[in-house]
Amino acid sequence: MGAATDTAGGLQVPPREAWASLHAGDTTWQERIIGDIAEVYVRPRYERLFGEAFGGAPRKSFLELGAGIGTLSERLVARHRGAISRYVTLEQFAEGTRRCAGRGLASIQGDATRLPVADKSFDVVLSFDVMHHVDDPRAMAREMVRVARHSLLLTESNGLSLGRRLMELTPGHRRAGERSYLPRTYRRFLEATGARFHAIRIAPFLFPFRVPRALLPALAWFNGRVEDLPLVRWQCSSLIIHATLEA
Ligand SMILES: C[S@@+](CC[C@H](N)C(=O)[O-])C[C@H]1O[C@@H](n2cnc3c(N)ncnc32)[C@H](O)[C@@H]1O
Repeated sequence: MGAATDTAGGLQVPPREAWASLHAGDTTWQERIIGDIAEVYVRPRYERLFGEAFGGAPRKSFLELGAGIGTLSERLVARHRGAISRYVTLEQFAEGTRRCAGRGLASIQGDATRLPVADKSFDVVLSFDVMHHVDDPRAMAREMVRVARHSLLLTESNGLSLGRRLMELTPGHRRAGERSYLPRTYRRFLEATGARFHAIRIAPFLFPFRVPRALLPALAWFNGRVEDLPLVRWQCSSLIIHATLEA
């Protein structure tokens, strides 16, 4: 994401406009791009994803990278308290770290490609729509694998999605440093770390876009089905990448 121009405690912080290109006050980046479907369908879908992946015993510790203003993190923690022993957010911008802390979340400022965290210190490392923003996704994959004991869960921009690729040509998305990758490229980032995985599962995730309020129920209905539709599913805007590590 852009050239670093500032430093905070040794951390290279991208220019201020990089934050503004993603976040605006309490409005999340998703609300800015896709509008009301973020609340009506997308966040509940994330809650379901988290429950399917980590619900049930034993409780696990989580590190979430690139948590932004913490809206999603707060929701996941509130909804899945019983599955969580510890939840820490990390964000490169001080403003994000402050906002996460303001929601009562443990939060550290840091770079996802150089984590200020010890080896194997969390059961799970999470990242929601972050890897396609970083300059060195391979380094981020290495760091996620270094810090996780059990598994990684990422949602990522789908390079197979024509809509997503076109959106990334627009000035706002370019400013935010977005670069979608193909499913097999994300897999390669993980495999190139040299870690041994039980499994790496990659599946299509979500097909949201901005519509007038009256069309929200139809869009939510469509989103509820599209992840399972043959072929069309790979036009979903995002991917779920769930990797479990060998002990
Ligand atoms: C698209 S936003 C997603 C925010 C949040 N995960 C969510 O889903 O609401 C991407 C976030 O990743 C952060 N980010 C980008 N590169 C980063 C890096 N190298 N280290 C830590 N955070 C980073 C950005 O500052 C931004 O807050």
